[in-house]
Amino acid sequence: MLVVGNWKMNGNRVENVARLDCLAKGITENLNVQAVVCVPFPYLAQTEQALQATPVGVGVQDVSTQSKGAYTGEVSAAMAAEFGCRYAIVGHSERRAYQFELSDAIALKAKQAVVHGLIPIVCVGETLEERAAGRTADVVTTQVSEILDRLTVEEQEQLVFAYEPIWAIGTGKSASGKEAQEVHACIRALLRSRSSQLANTPLLYGGSVKAARASDIFGQADVDGALVGGASLDANEFIQICLNAGRARCARERTGPITRRAAWQSAP
Ligand code: 13P
Repeated sequence: MLVVGNWKMNGNRVENVARLDCLAKGITENLNVQAVVCVPFPYLAQTEQALQATPVGVGVQDVSTQSKGAYTGEVSAAMAAEFGCRYAIVGHSERRAYQFELSDAIALKAKQAVVHGLIPIVCVGETLEERAAGRTADVVTTQVSEILDRLTVEEQEQLVFAYEPIWAIGTGKSASGKEAQEVHACIRALLRSRSSQLANTPLLYGGSVKAARASDIFGQADVDGALVGGASLDANEFIQICLNAGRARCARERTGPITRRAAWQSAP
Protein backbone atom coordinates (compact mmCIF):
# COMPACT_ATOMS: atom_id res chain seq x y z
CA MET A 1 0.00 0.00 0.00
CA LEU A 2 1.07 3.54 -0.75
CA VAL A 3 -0.25 6.30 1.52
CA VAL A 4 0.55 9.83 0.37
CA GLY A 5 -0.09 12.91 2.47
CA ASN A 6 -0.80 16.09 0.50
CA TRP A 7 -0.25 19.03 2.83
CA LYS A 8 -1.52 21.43 0.14
CA MET A 9 -0.69 25.06 1.04
CA ASN A 10 -0.39 24.44 4.77
CA GLY A 11 2.34 24.41 7.37
CA ASN A 12 5.02 26.75 8.64
CA ARG A 13 8.58 26.11 9.75
CA VAL A 14 7.70 25.90 13.46
CA GLU A 15 4.55 23.79 13.07
CA ASN A 16 6.33 21.45 10.63
CA VAL A 17 8.96 20.48 13.24
CA ALA A 18 6.43 18.77 15.49
CA ARG A 19 4.52 17.17 12.60
CA LEU A 20 7.64 15.77 10.94
CA ASP A 21 9.05 14.60 14.26
CA CYS A 22 5.84 12.72 14.98
CA LEU A 23 5.94 11.06 11.52
CA ALA A 24 9.63 10.17 11.94
CA LYS A 25 8.89 8.41 15.22
CA GLY A 26 5.57 6.84 14.29
CA ILE A 27 6.18 5.45 10.80
CA THR A 28 8.49 2.46 10.85
CA GLU A 29 9.39 -0.27 8.34
CA ASN A 30 7.16 -2.79 10.03
CA LEU A 31 4.02 -0.77 9.26
CA ASN A 32 4.17 -2.56 5.90
CA VAL A 33 3.29 0.55 3.96
CA GLN A 34 5.10 3.16 1.87
CA ALA A 35 4.22 6.50 3.44
CA VAL A 36 4.99 9.73 1.60
CA VAL A 37 4.45 13.41 2.40
CA CYS A 38 4.04 15.96 -0.38
CA VAL A 39 4.98 19.31 1.11
CA PRO A 40 5.08 22.89 -0.22
CA PHE A 41 8.36 23.60 -2.06
CA PRO A 42 9.86 25.93 0.60
CA TYR A 43 9.71 23.11 3.17
CA LEU A 44 11.52 20.47 1.07
CA ALA A 45 14.89 20.98 2.75
CA GLN A 46 13.35 20.89 6.23
CA THR A 47 11.35 17.77 5.33
CA GLU A 48 14.29 15.99 3.73
CA GLN A 49 16.38 16.60 6.81
CA ALA A 50 13.69 15.52 9.26
CA LEU A 51 12.80 12.31 7.39
CA GLN A 52 16.12 11.21 5.90
CA ALA A 53 16.72 8.44 8.43
CA THR A 54 13.14 7.19 8.15
CA PRO A 55 11.18 5.09 5.62
CA VAL A 56 8.88 8.05 4.88
CA GLY A 57 9.24 9.30 1.30
CA VAL A 58 9.16 12.95 0.27
CA GLY A 59 7.17 14.39 -2.61
CA VAL A 60 6.00 17.64 -4.17
CA GLN A 61 2.52 18.77 -5.19
CA ASP A 62 3.41 19.90 -8.70
CA VAL A 63 6.40 20.28 -11.05
CA SER A 64 7.01 22.45 -14.08
CA THR A 65 6.34 21.27 -17.62
CA GLN A 66 9.88 22.49 -18.41
CA SER A 67 13.29 21.33 -17.24
CA LYS A 68 14.85 24.79 -16.78
CA GLY A 69 15.02 28.32 -18.14
CA ALA A 70 13.01 31.51 -18.26
CA TYR A 71 9.85 30.27 -16.52
CA THR A 72 9.38 32.70 -13.65
CA GLY A 73 7.88 31.16 -10.55
CA GLU A 74 8.20 27.57 -11.73
CA VAL A 75 10.00 24.72 -9.93
CA SER A 76 11.49 21.89 -11.98
CA ALA A 77 11.39 18.18 -11.21
CA ALA A 78 15.20 18.26 -11.20
CA MET A 79 15.16 20.82 -8.38
CA ALA A 80 12.73 18.72 -6.36
CA ALA A 81 14.90 15.63 -6.91
CA GLU A 82 17.86 17.50 -5.41
CA PHE A 83 15.99 17.47 -2.10
CA GLY A 84 15.56 13.72 -2.02
CA CYS A 85 12.10 13.93 -3.55
CA ARG A 86 10.78 10.67 -5.07
CA TYR A 87 7.15 11.51 -5.85
CA ALA A 88 5.29 14.33 -7.62
CA ILE A 89 1.54 14.87 -7.61
CA VAL A 90 0.47 16.15 -11.04
CA GLY A 91 -2.93 17.26 -12.31
CA HIS A 92 -4.54 17.69 -8.91
CA SER A 93 -8.14 18.90 -9.33
CA GLU A 94 -7.27 22.12 -7.49
CA ARG A 95 -4.62 22.88 -10.13
CA ARG A 96 -6.98 21.84 -12.94
CA ALA A 97 -9.58 24.27 -11.50
CA TYR A 98 -7.48 27.24 -10.35
CA GLN A 99 -4.50 27.05 -12.72
CA PHE A 100 -6.56 25.76 -15.67
CA GLU A 101 -4.27 22.78 -16.20
CA LEU A 102 -5.28 20.46 -19.03
CA SER A 103 -4.05 17.03 -20.09
CA ASP A 104 -1.29 18.39 -22.37
CA ALA A 105 0.42 20.21 -19.49
CA ILE A 106 -0.27 17.43 -16.98
CA ALA A 107 1.33 14.84 -19.26
CA LEU A 108 4.38 17.08 -19.74
CA LYS A 109 4.68 17.38 -15.97
CA ALA A 110 4.48 13.60 -15.61
CA LYS A 111 7.21 13.27 -18.26
CA GLN A 112 9.45 15.72 -16.42
CA ALA A 113 8.91 13.82 -13.20
CA VAL A 114 9.88 10.50 -14.81
CA VAL A 115 12.97 12.00 -16.47
CA HIS A 116 14.21 13.14 -13.07
CA GLY A 117 13.45 9.91 -11.25
CA LEU A 118 10.23 10.98 -9.55
CA ILE A 119 7.09 8.83 -9.56
CA PRO A 120 4.20 10.91 -10.95
CA ILE A 121 0.93 10.59 -9.06
CA VAL A 122 -1.64 11.65 -11.66
CA CYS A 123 -4.96 12.79 -10.20
CA VAL A 124 -8.31 12.23 -11.91
CA GLY A 125 -11.88 12.60 -10.73
CA GLU A 126 -15.38 13.78 -11.56
CA THR A 127 -17.49 16.68 -10.28
CA LEU A 128 -20.77 16.18 -8.45
CA GLU A 129 -22.69 17.24 -11.56
CA GLU A 130 -20.84 14.69 -13.70
CA ARG A 131 -21.58 11.96 -11.15
CA ALA A 132 -25.25 12.94 -10.98
CA ALA A 133 -25.42 12.75 -14.77
CA GLY A 134 -24.03 9.19 -14.68
CA ARG A 135 -20.83 10.29 -16.43
CA THR A 136 -18.25 9.26 -13.78
CA ALA A 137 -16.71 6.32 -15.64
CA ASP A 138 -16.62 8.26 -18.90
CA VAL A 139 -14.99 11.35 -17.35
CA VAL A 140 -12.40 9.43 -15.37
CA THR A 141 -11.39 7.00 -18.12
CA THR A 142 -11.10 9.92 -20.56
CA GLN A 143 -8.79 11.74 -18.14
CA VAL A 144 -6.64 8.61 -17.71
CA SER A 145 -6.52 7.93 -21.47
CA GLU A 146 -5.55 11.51 -22.30
CA ILE A 147 -2.48 11.20 -20.07
CA LEU A 148 -1.50 7.72 -21.32
CA ASP A 149 -1.86 8.81 -24.96
CA ARG A 150 0.71 11.57 -24.43
CA LEU A 151 3.39 9.36 -22.87
CA THR A 152 5.69 6.60 -24.08
CA VAL A 153 5.06 3.05 -22.88
CA GLU A 154 8.09 3.33 -20.59
CA GLU A 155 6.74 6.54 -19.07
CA GLN A 156 3.25 5.07 -18.69
CA GLU A 157 4.70 2.22 -16.65
CA GLN A 158 6.07 4.66 -14.05
CA LEU A 159 2.71 6.22 -13.23
CA VAL A 160 0.53 6.02 -10.17
CA PHE A 161 -3.06 7.22 -10.62
CA ALA A 162 -5.12 8.77 -7.82
CA TYR A 163 -8.89 8.76 -8.15
CA GLU A 164 -10.09 11.84 -6.30
CA PRO A 165 -13.79 12.59 -6.79
CA ILE A 166 -14.01 16.39 -6.60
CA TRP A 167 -17.17 16.24 -4.50
CA ALA A 168 -15.28 14.29 -1.83
CA ILE A 169 -12.26 16.60 -1.54
CA GLY A 170 -12.21 18.64 1.66
CA THR A 171 -15.95 18.11 2.13
CA GLY A 172 -15.87 15.36 4.75
CA LYS A 173 -17.95 13.28 2.30
CA SER A 174 -15.66 10.39 1.37
CA ALA A 175 -16.74 7.96 -1.33
CA SER A 176 -17.71 4.63 0.20
CA GLY A 177 -15.39 1.70 -0.37
CA LYS A 178 -17.89 0.36 -2.91
CA GLU A 179 -18.08 3.67 -4.80
CA ALA A 180 -14.29 3.93 -4.90
CA GLN A 181 -13.95 0.31 -6.05
CA GLU A 182 -16.43 0.82 -8.92
CA VAL A 183 -14.32 3.62 -10.38
CA HIS A 184 -11.00 1.92 -9.64
CA ALA A 185 -12.28 -1.17 -11.46
CA CYS A 186 -13.05 0.98 -14.54
CA ILE A 187 -9.55 2.48 -14.46
CA ARG A 188 -8.03 -0.98 -13.95
CA ALA A 189 -9.98 -2.38 -16.91
CA LEU A 190 -8.74 0.45 -19.12
CA LEU A 191 -5.15 -0.11 -18.00
CA ARG A 192 -5.47 -3.87 -18.52
CA SER A 193 -6.78 -3.30 -22.03
CA ARG A 194 -3.55 -1.43 -22.79
CA SER A 195 -1.11 -4.02 -21.41
CA SER A 196 -0.54 -6.54 -18.66
CA GLN A 197 2.22 -4.28 -17.30
CA LEU A 198 -0.15 -1.35 -16.97
CA ALA A 199 -2.74 -3.54 -15.28
CA ASN A 200 -0.42 -3.42 -12.27
CA THR A 201 -0.43 0.38 -12.00
CA PRO A 202 -1.00 1.40 -8.37
CA LEU A 203 -4.36 3.17 -7.91
CA LEU A 204 -4.89 5.47 -4.92
CA TYR A 205 -8.17 6.82 -3.61
CA GLY A 206 -8.35 10.41 -2.33
CA GLY A 207 -11.15 12.51 -0.89
CA SER A 208 -11.87 12.99 2.83
CA VAL A 209 -9.88 9.89 3.83
CA LYS A 210 -9.81 9.60 7.63
CA ALA A 211 -8.51 6.82 9.86
CA ALA A 212 -12.01 5.86 11.01
CA ARG A 213 -13.18 4.91 7.51
CA ALA A 214 -9.89 3.96 5.90
CA SER A 215 -10.32 0.19 6.33
CA ASP A 216 -13.43 0.23 4.13
CA ILE A 217 -11.43 1.94 1.36
CA PHE A 218 -8.29 -0.17 1.78
CA GLY A 219 -10.32 -3.39 1.80
CA GLN A 220 -11.28 -2.93 -1.87
CA ALA A 221 -9.61 -5.13 -4.47
CA ASP A 222 -8.45 -2.32 -6.76
CA VAL A 223 -7.45 0.22 -4.12
CA ASP A 224 -3.68 0.23 -3.57
CA GLY A 225 -3.45 3.16 -1.20
CA ALA A 226 -4.66 6.67 -0.49
CA LEU A 227 -3.95 10.31 -1.21
CA VAL A 228 -4.77 12.13 2.01
CA GLY A 229 -5.30 15.87 2.27
CA GLY A 230 -6.64 17.42 5.48
CA ALA A 231 -6.05 14.35 7.65
CA SER A 232 -2.34 14.33 6.73
CA LEU A 233 -1.90 17.59 8.65
CA ASP A 234 -2.58 15.67 11.86
CA ALA A 235 0.45 13.38 12.10
CA ASN A 236 -1.22 10.94 14.49
CA GLU A 237 -4.26 10.61 12.24
CA PHE A 238 -1.97 10.07 9.24
CA ILE A 239 -0.07 7.36 11.10
CA GLN A 240 -3.37 5.66 11.94
CA ILE A 241 -4.31 5.69 8.25
CA CYS A 242 -0.92 4.13 7.44
CA LEU A 243 -1.51 1.46 10.09
CA ASN A 244 -4.87 0.60 8.50
CA ALA A 245 -3.23 0.40 5.07
CA GLY A 246 -0.52 -1.90 6.39
CA ARG A 247 -3.10 -4.24 7.88
CA ALA A 248 -5.08 -4.30 4.64
CA ARG A 249 -1.93 -5.12 2.71
CA CYS A 250 -1.16 -8.06 4.99
CA ALA A 251 -4.68 -9.39 4.54
CA ARG A 252 -4.41 -9.03 0.76
CA GLU A 253 -1.07 -10.80 0.58
CA ARG A 254 -2.69 -13.77 2.21
CA THR A 255 -5.18 -13.90 -0.64
CA GLY A 256 -2.71 -13.63 -3.51
CA PRO A 257 0.43 -11.90 -4.74
CA ILE A 258 0.48 -8.32 -5.96
CA THR A 259 3.22 -7.71 -8.47
CA ARG A 260 4.15 -4.20 -9.68
CA ARG A 261 1.46 -2.77 -7.46
CA ALA A 262 3.74 -3.80 -4.61
CA ALA A 263 7.09 -3.13 -6.28
CA TRP A 264 7.33 0.51 -5.25
CA GLN A 265 6.70 -0.47 -1.67
CA SER A 266 10.32 -1.49 -1.32
CA ALA A 267 11.49 1.88 -2.66
CA PRO A 268 13.30 3.99 -0.06
P1 13P B 1 -8.98 15.83 1.65
O1 13P B 1 -8.42 14.54 2.22
O2 13P B 1 -8.75 17.02 2.54
O3 13P B 1 -10.39 15.66 1.23
O4 13P B 1 -8.14 16.15 0.33
C1 13P B 1 -7.98 15.16 -0.63
C2 13P B 1 -6.99 15.62 -1.61
O5 13P B 1 -7.25 16.52 -2.40
C3 13P B 1 -5.65 14.99 -1.58
O6 13P B 1 -4.90 15.34 -2.70
